[in-house]
Amino acid sequence: MIRITPELLERYDKPGPRYTSYPTAVEFSESFAPTDYAGRLDAAAGRPDDPLSLYVHLPFCEARCSFCGCHVVVTQQRSIADVYLDRVLSEADLVSRHLGERRTLAQYHWGGGTPTYYTADELADFHRSLLDRFDLADDAEVALEVDPRVTSAEHLTVLRDLGFNRVSMGVQDLDSDVQQLIGRNQTWEQTRDLHLQARHLGFESTNIDLIYGLPGQTVASIGTTLERVLELRPDRLAVYSFAYVPWVKPNQKRIDAATLPDRDTKFALLALVSDELVSAGYRAIGMDHFALPGDELSLAFENGRLSRNFMGYTTKRGTEMIALGTSGISDVAGAYAQNHKRLNSYYSAVDAGELPVERGVSLSADDRIRRHVITELMCNGVVRPAAVETEFDIAFEIYFAAELAELTGPGGAVAEGMVRVDGDAIVASELGRVFIRNVAMVFDAYLGTPTADQPKFSQTV
Ligand SMILES: C[S@@+](CC[C@H](N)C(=O)[O-])C[C@H]1O[C@@H](n2cnc3c(N)ncnc32)[C@H](O)[C@@H]1O
Ligand code: SF4
Repeated sequence: MIRITPELLERYDKPGPRYTSYPTAVEFSESFAPTDYAGRLDAAAGRPDDPLSLYVHLPFCEARCSFCGCHVVVTQQRSIADVYLDRVLSEADLVSRHLGERRTLAQYHWGGGTPTYYTADELADFHRSLLDRFDLADDAEVALEVDPRVTSAEHLTVLRDLGFNRVSMGVQDLDSDVQQLIGRNQTWEQTRDLHLQARHLGFESTNIDLIYGLPGQTVASIGTTLERVLELRPDRLAVYSFAYVPWVKPNQKRIDAATLPDRDTKFALLALVSDELVSAGYRAIGMDHFALPGDELSLAFENGRLSRNFMGYTTKRGTEMIALGTSGISDVAGAYAQNHKRLNSYYSAVDAGELPVERGVSLSADDRIRRHVITELMCNGVVRPAAVETEFDIAFEIYFAAELAELTGPGGAVAEGMVRVDGDAIVASELGRVFIRNVAMVFDAYLGTPTADQPKFSQTV
């Protein structure tokens, strides 16, 4: 186990990005217009043989869990959700018009919200209609997120028949006191039965989401949750640090800050999760993720080929991503474009025949270089200057002189034992992997000084 002192935590556990993108979403601007996105899609059409990733955001949930940080629409009125799917298909038409012959998908993912808010029949019709516009590659990853509380055996059977081969289940914590505090009652049987069903149906990869740092969690309670979840032996586990940002997510105001574990306890939770999962035979993959050794994420990590996008960790390096639906973020031809988050604005744009983009950013040459360095750190824990020099035609030591000085200077990550810098590589140690967001932040050109009471990001540990 890694030894971390309270002083180290005090210095390094601070607000910082999770780097699902670089520049991060706080840099997106409304000056990036739908026509800018259209131009990027036209450029993407010029590479017809390159496969794409397609993300579809299905935002509806029956009730809002108080910890949730996702973009969701809470309603029990099915008619509100019904009209959404047609708008997503219209958006797919708008996008397809620009993509020309480029239609093959290497990755296809439904996230939310709760995709299984819809009935199995509604989902089947929607999926078939989308595949009139796109083609799945033979070895495509076809994945969705499910909430075991509302996902039936029929859902999984139909989805498996449609070709879904990966399933990710939200669990968070099995302890009833914690569940009470996060507004989410989910029985062990619901989780166990759905996982068994997924295995029985032959889903190639199963994932379970847990969160550490939730209200009421203790080392003992998370230990029991892990023990039970390990009985299922999912191929992957995502164990997220609780992002507590009530100034951005008002539903989190329902959580009494006094019930949150303090910094040392939160770290003890992380340490326990990591120890238990590694002893159970899982590999720690990038940040927050664990996978069985035979899983392709483990193999990609070993070969230094892991990458990261808005869907999470992936082996599909450099694949451009199209996102459909409210709040979705596309990553195409050197730009990020985010869709409207509000249903009304999203519907108005689509109905007017306009790409429903609210904001975005075009990456500068500097952004692209830093994105590469930050992605390598976050995914593989290693940056190889020679590879960066070849790809971007820069002299690494000169370009990043200030960053290297910060890393190697007094109190820097090298002195703390988080990274090793030598001629060939910048390599994160085991300790550095715990604080990988902090190491990556050294290469971020946008970090200003956030105000003390309203930081932009969640805590790094
Ligand atoms: C779209 S949600 C889950 C899908 C499904 N609606 C469910 O609840 O089971 C994806 C995952 O994000 C994670 N998540 C949501 N809010 C979070 C937060 N505030 N901090 C950390 N992780 C969070 C949870 O682990 C959740 O399972
Ligand atoms: S955690 Fe899942 S079910 Fe709960 S509000 Fe968020 S998206 Fe909906």
